[in-house]
Amino acid sequence: MIVISAYVFCYTGTETMTPQAYFMESSEETFRLDNKTDMTTVLSQARWAGLHPGMSVADVGCGPGKTSAALLEAVIPGGRVVGIDASTERLDFARGQYGSEGLQFYQGDALNNLDELGTFDFVWCRFFLEYHRESADKLYANLDRLVRPGGILCLIDLDYNCMTHFGLPPRLEATIHQIVGGVANETDFDPFAGRRIYTRMYDLGYTELDVQVSAHHLIFGPLAERDRFNWEQKLKAVARQTSFSFENYPGGYDEFAAEFRTFFEDPRRFTYTPMILCRGRKPSMK
Ligand SMILES: C[S@@+](CC[C@H](N)C(=O)[O-])C[C@H]1O[C@@H](n2cnc3c(N)ncnc32)[C@H](O)[C@@H]1O
Repeated sequence: MIVISAYVFCYTGTETMTPQAYFMESSEETFRLDNKTDMTTVLSQARWAGLHPGMSVADVGCGPGKTSAALLEAVIPGGRVVGIDASTERLDFARGQYGSEGLQFYQGDALNNLDELGTFDFVWCRFFLEYHRESADKLYANLDRLVRPGGILCLIDLDYNCMTHFGLPPRLEATIHQIVGGVANETDFDPFAGRRIYTRMYDLGYTELDVQVSAHHLIFGPLAERDRFNWEQKLKAVARQTSFSFENYPGGYDEFAAEFRTFFEDPRRFTYTPMILCRGRKPSMK
């Protein structure tokens, strides 16, 4: 039997467990995720997908727990949420910031068997598939196992991740596309994870499928501090994680990053990323 506590987790492996595949890892990542998450959007998306009071919920790849806290609002009274993540740092933050009787956090790798958690009425997974391109088969299978027969699976991810801007100088546009391709080659990142969700869920036999497409990272006009910080962290992650040569920039990464900042600060630029949300019901007799 395992004990899932809002404040205590008994983990017997290394002290800090961070999957190699998560290339955004940094000392700022917990804050970046918490800072950029809009609870109102999460709540309305989850309610659209069928979340209602009394349900049990798994939030897979919950990060710092803000999404789990938003999901809890939709299931009280009577419901509960378990946030699952591999990162010690993010779960420590989640427990301190959002832990409560109805909201508990579990440390685990979603690519491993999570059967000890049992099954849930509603399984939610946002901005997580994008980090699991090669391992997607395993991940989808594990997500499916967490959904009880007759329960709901709700998956949200991005398409053309970080690639859709207008107003970019040509060399900057070409370089961004090359970098995204390079990151996808060198890591398990999938810039097109969003477009694959519907067909994956269809193939898993989910019924009552429905899809919403909206804009994430919708940025026009003056740059908000939250967006500046978020994209600075993305640039730093690229610099840390890839062996990209920046051949169009004699000054290398620094010159590229400076040109991106100039573009991004300009209120004339337009940036968005397509966000795809798909929900479906697992057949009762699967
Ligand atoms: C981009 S964050 C998404 C956080 C949250 N779902 C949200 O919507 O803001 C991805 C999270 O997945 C976690 N993660 C990455 N790979 C994982 C794995 N294999 N098992 C469990 N958690 C993982 C990371 O630690 C990180 O907190």
